[in-house]
Amino acid sequence: MAEDLKIASGSREEQYRSLVPQIKALTEGETDFIANLANISAALKEQFGFFWVGFYLVKGNELVLGPFQGPVACTRIAFGKGVCGAAWKEGTTLIVPDVDAFPGHIACSSLSRSEIVVPFFRGNEVAGVLDVDSEHLNFFDETDRKYLEEIVFSIK
Ligand code: SME
Repeated sequence: MAEDLKIASGSREEQYRSLVPQIKALTEGETDFIANLANISAALKEQFGFFWVGFYLVKGNELVLGPFQGPVACTRIAFGKGVCGAAWKEGTTLIVPDVDAFPGHIACSSLSRSEIVVPFFRGNEVAGVLDVDSEHLNFFDETDRKYLEEIVFSIK
C-alpha cells in the first residue's frame, strides 16, 4: 500500500475514525513488531500533533524506550514507577489530567502537562505501553482511551 496518511479534520472522534482503519491497513501486512510500533507512533503524531507519542516495552523488570515521535525521553522506567510503570503494574489505561498531581510522575520533559498511558498484552502479561503526552492540561478523555486501546490491541 501507499505509505501516506490521509489527515482528517473534525472532532477528535472523527479524526480517530479516519485514522484507526489507516493504522490497521498500515500494520496488517507487516509482521515486524518494531516497524509497526514505529508507524503507529508516526501516524498518531501526524494526525494529532501530540507533543510526545511512543512506546515503552517490557524488558525484564523495566520498561525500555521503544519507537516514538517527539523530544528525547527517559530510556528506562522501573515497574510501578511513573505513570507508565503504574499502568504496567495495574494492567489498565491511566488518564492523568495534571501530571504534577500524579505522585511519582516521571518528567521526561517539563513541558508535558497531561498524559494517557495504554498497556498492551501478550497473553495475560503486559508487553509494553503506549504513552501519549500533551503540553496542555486535561487533554485526554474517554475518546482517546477507546481508540488508543483499539489501536494497541490490534498490534500483533
Ligand atoms: N511521564 C512518563 C514517563 C515517560 S515520558 O513522559 C515520555 C511517566 O511518568 O511514566
